[in-house]
Amino acid sequence: RRRPAREQTGPGRSGPSRRPLPAPTTPTREFVTGLPKAELHLHLEGTLEPDLKLRLAQRNGIDIGQSTVEEVRATYPFDSPTRFLPEYYPAMEALQTADDFYELADAYLARAAADGVKHAEMFFDPQAHTSRGVPFEAVVTGYHRAAAEAPSKHGIDAHLILCFLRDHSAQSAAETLEASVPFRDKILGVGLDSDERDNPPQKFADVFARARELGYRLTMHCDIDQVGSIDNIRTVLDEIGVDRVDHGTNVVEDPALVDVVRERGLGLTTCPISNSFVTDDMKATEIAGLLRSGVRVTVNSDDPAYFGGYVAENYVALAEAAGLTAQAVVQLARNSVESSGLRVSPRAAARAR
Ligand code: HPA
Ligand code: ZN
Repeated sequence: RRRPAREQTGPGRSGPSRRPLPAPTTPTREFVTGLPKAELHLHLEGTLEPDLKLRLAQRNGIDIGQSTVEEVRATYPFDSPTRFLPEYYPAMEALQTADDFYELADAYLARAAADGVKHAEMFFDPQAHTSRGVPFEAVVTGYHRAAAEAPSKHGIDAHLILCFLRDHSAQSAAETLEASVPFRDKILGVGLDSDERDNPPQKFADVFARARELGYRLTMHCDIDQVGSIDNIRTVLDEIGVDRVDHGTNVVEDPALVDVVRERGLGLTTCPISNSFVTDDMKATEIAGLLRSGVRVTVNSDDPAYFGGYVAENYVALAEAAGLTAQAVVQLARNSVESSGLRVSPRAAARAR
């Protein structure tokens, strides 16, 4: 909007030193997209958009109960937080072959590249597929083919993190871990997701100890506002010895634990839009407070096909809700690179870029 001439200030009228400083503004979507960043909390199965789901179902001859994209979209649980996990796993039936997993990951990587992602560590849930009779090998080879092509095709260094379903048994997790051993070179680390209620981290202590022996990096979800969230965060830090915590925002309940996370330089992978979906609160105050206190908080999209925002939208939503400056947003992007599983030299290169 053009201002009337009499309001104009500038060198001709009052000199540069009298010009008021521009008011701080929320960084724009364009600014956020232009920042090189890593995405570290992203479930590949949570990127299954309605159009791809329908196309894969039709290709595989699977009746998912809908025959148009609009009908599939209407089944996505945008309207009810508590419905998320019970709807999420059945939605995966459309995924059957290695090509299907390849296409899913490739579509995500294209979206991520458009948001300025240069490094992605992508969760996948093999038990959600092997429990339906899909071979482990089809899942991991399909996803890995997309990851291997990602540097040349999308300009992204892409890696896989195998997540165990915490509402399945520790025995099932142990079997899944052993099934991964022939594919060890294709998997960066292991994580833990699904329903945290009554499935605390201790349940998987032995599985994670074995994963560490195998050379995997370790991370675990500590979901938002769970019963015992703070105890679970303490356990993953003190007993499991994770390299990162997924969500973990409830750490603010114990300032001494915040100090531990800061001193160890541990990354917390927060997901603002997902938070607002599952708890009616983005947790912007908590995330911004952790950022200000020097904790390596990062911003991620979690399950963007379901929660309706890829990573850049998560940065913008958080920046608007918390009133973050451009410098704070740059710090979030820097944290994402520094919390990644990159080895030192590529990490330094990525930070420099
Ligand atoms: N928490 C637990 N399980 C999940 C999530 C999450 O954020 N996303 C997909 N599965
Ligand atoms: Zn998650």
